Order: sequence, then structure tokens, then C-alpha cells
Amino acid sequence: MITFDAESRIFYLENEQITYAFAVPEGRSPEHLFFGPRCGRDLTTGSYSQNGLAHQIIRKDASGFAYNPTRVPQEIHTALGGDFGEPTVLLGDSAGNRRFDLSFSAFRILPVKPALPGLPSLRGGETLELILTGRGVTVTLLYTLFEDCGVLARSLSVRNTGEAPLSVRKAFSFAFSLPVGSYKAVSLWGAAGSEGQLQNQPLSSFGLFGVDSRRGFSSAIHNPFLALAEETATEDRGMVWGANLVWSGSFALHAERMTTGLVRFQGGFDAEDFAWKLEPGESFQAPEAVLAFSEEGLSGLSRAYHTAYLDHLIDPARARKPRPVVFNNWEGTRFDFNGDGLREMIRLTGDLSPDVFALDDGWFGKRNDAFSGLGDWTPNEAKLGGPLSDLAACVRKTGMRFGLWFEPEMVNADSDLFRAHPDWVLRTPCDTPAEGRSQLVLDLTRPEVRDYVAAAVNRILDNCPVDYVKWDCNRDLTEGYSSSLPAERQQEVFYRQILGLYNLLDRIVGTHPDIFFEGCSSGGSRTDPGMLAYFPQIWISDQSDCAARAKIQYGISLFCPLPAQSCHVTASPNRRAAHLTPIASRAAIAGLGAAGFEFDPRRLPPEELAAVPELIRRFREDEDLVLRGELHRLLSPFGGNWFAEELVLPDQSAARIVAMKFLENFNQPDPRIYPRGLSPDTRYRAEIFSSVPGKAAPQKTGEFLMSGRSLMHFGLRPDFSAGDFQSLILTLRAEKDAV
Ligand code: DGJ
Repeated sequence: MITFDAESRIFYLENEQITYAFAVPEGRSPEHLFFGPRCGRDLTTGSYSQNGLAHQIIRKDASGFAYNPTRVPQEIHTALGGDFGEPTVLLGDSAGNRRFDLSFSAFRILPVKPALPGLPSLRGGETLELILTGRGVTVTLLYTLFEDCGVLARSLSVRNTGEAPLSVRKAFSFAFSLPVGSYKAVSLWGAAGSEGQLQNQPLSSFGLFGVDSRRGFSSAIHNPFLALAEETATEDRGMVWGANLVWSGSFALHAERMTTGLVRFQGGFDAEDFAWKLEPGESFQAPEAVLAFSEEGLSGLSRAYHTAYLDHLIDPARARKPRPVVFNNWEGTRFDFNGDGLREMIRLTGDLSPDVFALDDGWFGKRNDAFSGLGDWTPNEAKLGGPLSDLAACVRKTGMRFGLWFEPEMVNADSDLFRAHPDWVLRTPCDTPAEGRSQLVLDLTRPEVRDYVAAAVNRILDNCPVDYVKWDCNRDLTEGYSSSLPAERQQEVFYRQILGLYNLLDRIVGTHPDIFFEGCSSGGSRTDPGMLAYFPQIWISDQSDCAARAKIQYGISLFCPLPAQSCHVTASPNRRAAHLTPIASRAAIAGLGAAGFEFDPRRLPPEELAAVPELIRRFREDEDLVLRGELHRLLSPFGGNWFAEELVLPDQSAARIVAMKFLENFNQPDPRIYPRGLSPDTRYRAEIFSSVPGKAAPQKTGEFLMSGRSLMHFGLRPDFSAGDFQSLILTLRAEKDAV
């Protein structure tokens, strides 16, 4: 609910879990008051102190109140007016003025959250539109609370209301401040193949802490997610604030400890090399930030994000619906396949009964390695042993559906497309373009390039029975230069490229509601909410070793819902980690997401192949918990020898704990596992299924009855089989009779 107390001039945005409050003093920028657990509507004593005014810039607002802009926590910080912290917005006009003070001018409470032009964003109801004005400029802030989770969506747009062009040099999406206190920063760093690594550091010192990407995309190096947590917060206790961006380009998320002790938290798209020319009357829209708060630690924060994304961002026709069990050929064959081999694989895979057979990279153009053919979306019939539609028919005959890989945004220099249109790539005219995986980036700022790509991909999708698409993207952006834009607009290119990408997605994904699209970017280099708006699931890493993967899934689950994480069981020893792992453990970890398979069925050990139908049966049987379950991370694999996560149905009638021991720890204790979120007075029937050496499918190794109360307080002693990477799955089902 959104209310405005006209007497104190305070806005309260509140639901059952949270209150977000700020004041709008006359003649100055809105002052942030609070973001945290639900409070009363009586926050009139302010959140900062004005002492220490010597050698400070003092300004007076319309009521004559003297204030020091650096000390005041604000909803948006501007530069050159005495606020020496990091600005939220930087503007410049053609006369060289860069000081643009903003003050509250009006507000509206809209019944439905407006869509953001050109950008994906959460769907929502009641929304506060706050209008701030300055010299020749209007800044509009949007705030939407969601009734079912502690999440607030915020965005910002800048409109040129003057007579001459304006330059937008920075437009972060949000700013708010945390009160004086001890915090730690929790973020996700990584690389292709080791995405989602949890990073935890104290925010004790004064100054700036940040995570960012300058790669043109959100990246695996830093995910566009940052949480600030009370220093003592754990997975299930303590206050945590999160920020995540519905944006797939370069970004920055910053926490600045001010001399007041307050922590200024803000972020948005990366503006280090940015300037957007705004003609009179034009607006610039910055991406949406999704802010979350939880008093139930990091797992609580994750649950808030999962609800927000599953119920308000991902396509509702897919979000909580059963996922297809996909079998993909990539890890099994890479580029090395032909028509006969594929048909043999399809026959063997069909016997295992997954839902989809997906043909990955290498089916088009002259594409037998990563050096050529990208961009030429014409099936290579010689390699496929006939038309693509024949292959699709062969797949469908087995009862499976047909899936296909695309990388629409890129091109190889050695391709017919590049030879015909060498100017269709992003490149600085005076330099040789930098290549990544031997490919160049198509210039999606150009409408004719988008037209071509949309037509080329749609031609395949409309003429061949394709049910599933994997949309890949295998390099970062380097050249911020488009030959179609004038010099003064070149610093818009990185931003325009992402707008072009969203436009392309609208025209391909948006026009094929019956096709299931999965996002991918060299694994999980673009696992962000912007992509979740188009893809109900994302291939979060090429790393499928269950030990490394457990960490990746644990980290990414901080914000990304489990059904949105595509996770495949692959062969062992793993190609990247070289670990020998039981297939039961690989499946246990994959079963914490949208599970599938990726190996060559002609080469998998026969006992493992024989276990696959049973693993698929279990994935389907357990899927409800992935789709609707609430996540509790129980044992962190970061720095420890164990992993444990639990999913609990919202009505507490069932739960599942998946645990794994990394290395054998003979005669040393395993940690106790304490389930969370159960109904204390319900009796649960627990069944344990373990990986057992010499057996491919998980084996039932125990069963008992226990109350939720005892399970949560007495805990469980995991009995792992001897050996490395052994896992267990504990299923809990509520018995009819109460304790
Ligand atoms: C990178 C992806 O992460 C892989 O799964 C695979 O699709 C390759 N690209 C294909 O080139």
C-alpha cells in the first residue's frame, strides 16, 4: 500500500513484510528515511544528524531549513550542489552546466505499474510516480511494491523539458541509504565455468565498495546482484538488503560508507563511458532495479527474489509450470556429428524418454568449429544427412520434441553474412575489431541488422517444427562504435546494443509463445533478470561437475529461482573438473533446478545409461518442490566440505533436502543438518535416498518418522556413503496425524 502523509510530507510504501519511506521536503530532493521491516507511519525524527557542520556546504530548502547535502540520505543524489558522495544522475547542457538540482514537484499513484519503454521490467500493480524537476529537466522515479514479497521495484527516467539538447552522462536506477551500523557485502563473482561464486566482505571502512561489469553484458565476472547484510547475518537470521538489475548490459552496484556512517547504496547501468544526447522533449529510460529486504538472512532474501521473479517477471505461462527434461548433444559431441550419428543418438535418447532432444551448435552454414559459419542460419543439409525438418521429424517420431541452438547476436568473419555486410558489426573504424571465440558482434543498434537477424531466425522457427530454442551469446562487447551513428552518439552504443537485443528478443521470443526458449551465454555469463524476462530458464554454467556445480547453483540461487536454473547431468570424469563423481550425485544436484542431460548415449557407461529413465522419473516426481518450494540454504559449499539445500512447499506438507560431501573424511564428523521452515507440530515421514558406490540410481537407505519441531531442533546426522562426492536426498512428507 502506498500512502502520503501530507502533514509530515512522508511517503510510506508498505506491505506485510517491509516499509520503505522517504520525505519530500519543499524545495529539495526527496530524503530517504527507511527501508526495512514493517514500521508504523510515524517516522518523523529523521535518519541522520546534522552535527559537524564546520567546513561543510550548507544549503537552505524552501522552508528555510539549513542542511548539508552530503549528509542527507536521498532518493536520488545529484552533483555539484554540495553533495560530495557519489551522484545517482549526471547531466550536462550545451552551455556546459552540470549542476542540476532537483526538487519534488508532484506525484501520482498509478493503479498498474507502467511498462518501461524498450526495457524488460517486473509486472506490478499500484505504483508511485514521483516527479522531480530541475532547470530544463524532469526526473521521474517509479516505485512498485509487491504484496507477496519484500521486494520493491524502482526505476528512473530523465526528460528534457528545456529548449536545447541535454546530455545524460549517468542515470543509476536507484539510491537509498542504510543507517549507521556494521554491514558486510555479499556478491557473486566468477568466470565462464565458475559462475556464481559467493563473495563475502566486511563493509567496515569508509569509502566505496562496488561490483560492476564493463563487458557490455552483465557477465559472469560480477553478477548484477549485491546484498548488504548486517555483519552478523547468516543464511536464516539477520537483516539483509539486496539490489539486482533487470538489465543485461554493463552495470555498477555501489555501497559508499559516508562520513556520517550511513551507507549509500545505489546502482544501475555502467556509465563510465556513456553520454546520451537528449533532444528537447525526449526522455531517457534507465533500467529497473529490484530491491529486496529480509529479516530472515540471505535465504530469506533469496525467497523474496524468487517470488518476485517467478510471479512478476518470468512469463506466467512458463514460470511455475513443469520444465521439459532436455537432452542436449553438445557435451557429448560438440561440433563433431553427422546425420547418421545424430539419428543413432536420437534413437538411443528416445528410449530414455526425456521431453526434448536439442541440437546444439554446428547444424548450420560452414560450422564445424568455432572459426566459421556463425551468422549463416541455413541448415547444413550435407552434415545433417537431409533437411532440418527431416531431423526434427525423426526426433518427434520417438515421442520427443525438437530443440535447436542459435547465437543470433554474433557473426564469424568467415561467414557469408559478414562477407556481404562487413559494416554490420560493432567496430571502431580505425582499428581491427577485437575477436572473442573468433567472432564479431552484430551491430544491433541498426534496425536493418535486427530485421535481418529476426527474419533469418524466424524463418527457421516458422518452417521447421522447433519446440525449444537455446539462445547463446559467446563473447563480450569491446567496440563501442556503430558506423550508423554520428560521432556525438557513439557513447550511446553499449546502451543501444542492449536495447537492440531486447527488441530482437521481442521479435523472436515474443512472436513464438509456443516455443520454450532457454538463455545461455558461454554458460552463465548473462544470468540476469533482464534475460529472465525473456527466458524462463537460463543455462547457468558449462560447468556440470557436481562439486563445482553445487557451488554455482548455491551462489546463483541468491537471486535466481531454482526452476530458472537449467542444470544437466553429464558424463564423468567431467571434461572441466576431471572429477570422478557418482551419477546419483550429479542427478541430485541437477535436480535442484530445471534438470536435463547432456552426454553421448553411445559412450555413457551402460549401467549409467540404464539408470537415466529412473532419474528422469524422479526429476518429474520431485519437480513440484522445485517449482513451488521455498529455498533454505543449509550448508555452504564455499570453504566447507559439504553442501546442503532444502526446499519446502509453502503449505509445509513436503520438503526435500539435498546434501553432498565433497571429499571423503574418514573417521571425521560430518556436520549436523538442521532443516528449516517445517511445521513444528506436523509429523513427517522421512525417506533417505543415497548415492551408493557400484549403483547408478540413488538407493533407499533409511526411513523414519519425526516431528517438524524435532527435525528443526535436533537436526539430522547425514550418513554419506564412503567415498568422494557422495550425496543424499531426504524427502519429508507430512503424515495426516499431527504430533
Ligand atoms: C556455449 C554454451 O554454454 C554451450 O553449452 C554450447 O552451447 C556452446 N556455446 C556452443 O557453441
